[in-house]
Amino acid sequence: MKRYLASIVFLAACGSKAAPTTTTPPTGETGGSAAVATLPDVPFEQLDQDQRVEFMKQKVMPAMKPIFQNHDATKYAEFSCKTCHGEQAAQGHFDMPNADLPKLNFGDMSKYKKEDLEWMGKEVKPAMAKLLSLPEFTPENPKGFGCLHCHTQEQ
Ligand code: HEC
Ligand code: HEC
Repeated sequence: MKRYLASIVFLAACGSKAAPTTTTPPTGETGGSAAVATLPDVPFEQLDQDQRVEFMKQKVMPAMKPIFQNHDATKYAEFSCKTCHGEQAAQGHFDMPNADLPKLNFGDMSKYKKEDLEWMGKEVKPAMAKLLSLPEFTPENPKGFGCLHCHTQEQ
């Protein structure tokens, strides 16, 4: 609080005579970063809805975008919330798992390319688990973060 007051005094002292024609950049353009909310250092599930959106923007997008684009730069040229959340994202819904993603049948994955499955299993899943601070799914830890947190299963 003291700092805050001090800076107001400082600004008032230095800025009071600034003419309206000041070259200070307009807030709209450059002020954007000032609006970035600071996220509390708690697990994802303890964040409220607005904080979850912020978390996705600040942490998930920058980490996951290269993982998708390095795998297929053309297909994932436009990497967005929609890539994972599907069409519902446009309506502000982000339910997971997302039935728009390819449906998985663990008994028969032959219709998928081996390199895609490896990319999912060795890059996408561990990276996302790490972002969410969740242990990964393993046969020993079936409650961990796995494929079915994003994908649904083939009926
Ligand atoms: C790489 C995939 C991926 C991308 C890209 C992504 N998300 Fe998510 N999102 C997830 C996963 C996985 C969860 C579920 C996390 C959990 O429940 O532990 C999630 C959960 C959420 C939730 C919480 C949903 C709920 O039911 O509480 C919100 C809100 C959300 N995402 C918003 C966004 C927004 C906004 C963007 C774009 C800025 C975005 N997400 C981009 C994977 C992604
Ligand atoms: C963080 C969310 C997330 C997790 C976890 C995840 N996936 Fe995916 N998966 C995606 C997204 C997003 C795509 C891209 C869908 C698209 O291209 O429209 C995808 C695509 C795929 C594809 C289709 C690849 C193609 O190009 O045809 C397969 C198969 C797949 N995932 C399998 C898996 C398997 C198996 C696991 C677990 C080892 C897994 N995924 C974990 C989000 C996830």
